[in-house]
Amino acid sequence: MIPVFRPALGAEEADAVRAVMESNYIGCGPKVKEFEKKFADFTGVKYAVATNSGTAALHLGLKVLDIDKKEIISSPLTFVSTIHSILYNKAVPVFSGIQSDTLNIAPDIARKKISEKTKAILSVHFGGHPCDMDEINELAKENNLFVVEDAAHACGSEYKGKKAGNLGNLSCFSFQATKNLTTGDGGMIATNDKEMAERARRLRWLGISEGTFERIGKKGYGWDYDVSELGFRYEMNDIAAAIGIAQLKKLGAANKKRREITKQYNDSFSRLDWLDIPAERSYVKSSNHNYVVKIKNQKIRDRLITHLAENNISSSVHYKPIYMHTLYRKIAGNISTPVADEIWKRILTLPLFPGLKDGEIEKVVDCVKKFKP
Ligand SMILES: Cc1ncc(COP(=O)(O)O)c(C=O)c1O
Repeated sequence: MIPVFRPALGAEEADAVRAVMESNYIGCGPKVKEFEKKFADFTGVKYAVATNSGTAALHLGLKVLDIDKKEIISSPLTFVSTIHSILYNKAVPVFSGIQSDTLNIAPDIARKKISEKTKAILSVHFGGHPCDMDEINELAKENNLFVVEDAAHACGSEYKGKKAGNLGNLSCFSFQATKNLTTGDGGMIATNDKEMAERARRLRWLGISEGTFERIGKKGYGWDYDVSELGFRYEMNDIAAAIGIAQLKKLGAANKKRREITKQYNDSFSRLDWLDIPAERSYVKSSNHNYVVKIKNQKIRDRLITHLAENNISSSVHYKPIYMHTLYRKIAGNISTPVADEIWKRILTLPLFPGLKDGEIEKVVDCVKKFKP
C-alpha cells in the first residue's frame, strides 16, 4: 500500500540519537537548546521554545496571551488540536469562513466575526500554504488583536519572502510523525516577544523558574527553584531535539522534493475536468505539506477513494469541519460556514512525501488518470 505520508529518517537521525544516549543526558538539555537556536535562526525569530507536541505548543502559545473567556477566530478546516487549544484556555472558538482555493481563513469573513470579546486570530496555514497575513495583520491592528499562526503544516513555507512562523505575534509548529520536519513527536513556539517566550519556557516545565539543565553545575543553591504559575509537563527532550537538528539540515532538500512531486502531479492532473489541482498564490511558497485536490462532487470523490484503495493507494480527507464533531456541536450548536460545509465533501489528500519513489508517483498518476468519474 502506498501511504499518504511516510517519514524520512535516516542514518543521520540514528547517529544523533545514539550520541544523545551515550551522553547520558536525555532530558530537556543541551540538544533542546541547540535545536531552539537553530530553529529560531531558520524561522527568523528571536525566540523558540521547544515542546513535546504541536498541541502543547498551541496550548501554551495561547496561554501566554491570557485569553480566558475571550473569543478566538480560527479556521474550521484544521486538525482538532487547533481548536482544542482554545478550549484548553477556557476561551471560545469562533469559526471564520475559508477561501475556496487555498482553504485558508478568508480575512473578509474573519472581519465580520470580530466582536468586543475577540482577542486573537489563530490562522492555520492549510497544507503549508500561508494565509493572507497582510490582511489578517491589518485586521488585528485595527481591532487590537493578537495574531497566532498554527504553522504545523508550514515548516519552511514563505509568505512574501518571509518564513511562516514569523508572520504574527507568535507561532506554533508540530514535529509529529507526518510533518515536513519530524522529531517523532514535538512542537515549537516561535516569537519575537521576549516576555511571551520566557513565560512559555516556564510553563512548559510545570511553571518552574529555571530548567534542570540550567541549574546543573550552578554554584550554591543549584537545587533551588520557584514555581510562580501552574505549568505543564510539555518540554521537549534531547532525543527528540537531536532528531530535529538532523531533520532541520535536510528540510530544504525534503521540501524541494515535495515541490517537484507536486509539480509532477499538477502537470498530470491539470487537464482532468473533474478535478482541481491545489492553488498556490504568486506571493507564497508552500511547504507542500500535503497534496489536496478538489473533486467535482462528493460521489465521485468517494468512488475515487475506493478506486485508489483497490489499487493499493491510500488517500485521506483533511479535514471534516471541526464544528461537525459531536463535541463542538454540543459546545457551539449548529454552526455552518458555507465554503467549508460544501468543499470538505469534495477534497481528497493524495500521497505526498519526499521518499515517494518514481514508480509510486507514476502509479498514483496512472490510477487517477484511468479513473472514470
Ligand atoms: C494544523 C495542525 N495543528 C496542530 C497539530 C497538532 O500537532 P501535534 O500532533 O504535534 O500535537 C496538527 C497535527 O498533528 C495539525 O495538523
